[in-house]
Amino acid sequence: MEKKELLYTGKAKKMYATNQEKVLLAEYLNQVTSLNGAKKENVEGKGELNNQITGLIFTYLAEKGVASHYIQEVSKTEQLIREVEMIPLEVVVRNTSAGSFTKRFGIEEGIDLPFPILEFYYKNDKLDDPFINDSHVKMLNVANDEEIIEIKKQALEINAVLVEMFKKIAIRLIDFKIEFGKTADGKIILADEISPDTCRLWDINTKEHLDKDLYRRDLGDIIPVYTEVLERLNNLRINE
Ligand code: C5P
Repeated sequence: MEKKELLYTGKAKKMYATNQEKVLLAEYLNQVTSLNGAKKENVEGKGELNNQITGLIFTYLAEKGVASHYIQEVSKTEQLIREVEMIPLEVVVRNTSAGSFTKRFGIEEGIDLPFPILEFYYKNDKLDDPFINDSHVKMLNVANDEEIIEIKKQALEINAVLVEMFKKIAIRLIDFKIEFGKTADGKIILADEISPDTCRLWDINTKEHLDKDLYRRDLGDIIPVYTEVLERLNNLRINE
């Protein structure tokens, strides 16, 4: 595999073409951002942690029958992925109240929700990724009825697998954001990343935050807790 031209630079990743058709290379960056990029910093080591964590989670999901764009890790900070047409939606699933949900509904943080709550945000930096409903998704031509049903079904399946997976490593999955892409034959598959940048993860025993809220809320260094998440996932892999 040869790394070719840079196609796109995002907030957390750079995307490169490769010499293989329909295969891209994602390089995970050390940049950490919040408030849609208004707050940003370089944190040495973050890229390699999220690359490896995403690889392990996507591999675990594949073993449970959830397809994704992930192919394989090629270096500590790089992974090969299938090229898909990204659907401009941030799909959030919540098991416990936290973050914007607590603000929007005036509910305190840490309350277990009676069932997983699924939310759509329109991925658009200029508009600050607004909260939207199914009608908006359709009106914006982001997805049709059938695709909306498929996205929701997959998001809830992914949540069920991830809740159980994290429970095995003493982590409570509070909420997370995922993105989907469409393959050339129109199949919708999980894409982007799943890491402590995109999930809220609380230690079951100590209630310690093992995710980007440490950065968002100036509570401490993310590297030790991201390393802890990676180590627990590696142990799970060895023990299963
Ligand atoms: O901020 P909010 O409570 O809506 O975030 C819900 C979940 O989605 C959190 O796990 C957060 O890490 C993730 N998220 C993300 N990227 C965004 C917005 C939220 O990964 N742009």
